[in-house]
Amino acid sequence: MSAVKEDMNKTLLERGAKHVSATNARAFDIVASHGKGSYLWDVNGTRYLDFTSGIAVNNVGHCHPDVVAAISEQAKKLIHVAMVASNEPLIRLAEKLAELAPGNLDTVFLNNSGGEAIDAAIKMARFVSKRSNIIAFTGAFHGRTLLGTALTAAKSHYRDGFEPLPAGIHHISYPYCYRCPVGQKAGSCKLECFDLVEKAFKHFVKPESVAAIILEPQMGEGGYVPLASGYSGKDGYMQRLRELCDKHGILLIVDEVQTGFGRTGEWFAVNHWNVVPDIMVVAKGIASGMPMAGVISRAELMKKWLPGKHGSTYGGNPVACSAALASINVIEKENLLQNARTLGAYLTERVKSMAQKYKFIGDVRGFGLMLGIEFVDAAGMPDGERLSRLVDECEKRRLLLLDCGPSDHVVRFLPPLNVSKEELDEGLSIFEEALSVL
Ligand SMILES: Cc1ncc(COP(=O)(O)O)c(C=O)c1O
Repeated sequence: MSAVKEDMNKTLLERGAKHVSATNARAFDIVASHGKGSYLWDVNGTRYLDFTSGIAVNNVGHCHPDVVAAISEQAKKLIHVAMVASNEPLIRLAEKLAELAPGNLDTVFLNNSGGEAIDAAIKMARFVSKRSNIIAFTGAFHGRTLLGTALTAAKSHYRDGFEPLPAGIHHISYPYCYRCPVGQKAGSCKLECFDLVEKAFKHFVKPESVAAIILEPQMGEGGYVPLASGYSGKDGYMQRLRELCDKHGILLIVDEVQTGFGRTGEWFAVNHWNVVPDIMVVAKGIASGMPMAGVISRAELMKKWLPGKHGSTYGGNPVACSAALASINVIEKENLLQNARTLGAYLTERVKSMAQKYKFIGDVRGFGLMLGIEFVDAAGMPDGERLSRLVDECEKRRLLLLDCGPSDHVVRFLPPLNVSKEELDEGLSIFEEALSVL
């Protein structure tokens, strides 16, 4: 009688269920063992093509050798020093970020997670402007701290049960062209949705009381929606926001937590509009999975955020900073912005041609290697049920894809930026086979 091999995923997950908080949910019943480039292995030795990149964190793939070397070398010298002293990797990273960030954004505050950095950005905006109100957008996801939760409007699930949330946050509709909030048609509109910002000033919040407007240049958890992508005129939504903020002395904050570090084919997604925000929030792809996030602004504003008004024990940790420097270097050395553009265009074209055949694909959208594919039912309504089957069928065929959107009806492709064409083709053929059995 042949011995039945133990399913280590199951055994470990059963053990984990006893002591790991259930709130820390996971997309797949997999216990990851190791990763290399675009592939992830579970503890049973099964190999998956990983097009989730740890939710846009592993932009240079799993365990890139340069990043691994930088972490090990730094760990031998100094792991932690906190606010007791500065450290050289932190200073080098701040210089590098000042070089990469748009326009005059040249001063950096570092901490540990996207949500924490969003909190820091809002605290900074309120402190330096001496104003209190914030405008955010429906569909936004800005993290899970209480302030991040208050800014988030991607799904009521993220807010429900946590009220009362911090006050002074007002949401207006995001320019989501496939489902235009003001009933216009993509391609022929005049950006009528922008009036919603002016209306907010008229109806519920005076512009002179607004500290900041915060937005994602391409919405992440809210459904992979690029900002007003259906508008084809000259000055787009981002430019108009910039002008409006300048007119009223409001700070423009862009949340580049998911879009940053080459994901969209530019260092930062806001570069697609050639607009310089006042404050930019970064995380995820910055350090290949070492906990790190940051707030980047111009020196003149940062100086007003007085010493000790904010801080972080682990922020600017030398190991995380070394990982960030190595990750940025890989993006430069391997020309990954170009790869994201070229392969992103190829991916979009391939999926658009599949959409001709599968009518339940309603929309295909996104910048670079940040592609969202929206599933709809016969009436054009979001179809999360079919999308969930798609994700399962892909997993069965060893391709990992994540969903997003308020009805979990958008599937996202976010392979590492150094994915090869062959790996992309491998994923696309699995995806197409999965579409055919839905
Ligand atoms: C756009 C955006 N902002 C903020 C966050 C919060 O980041 P973190 O999970 O690192 O706190 C996320 C996380 O998914 C995000 O996508």
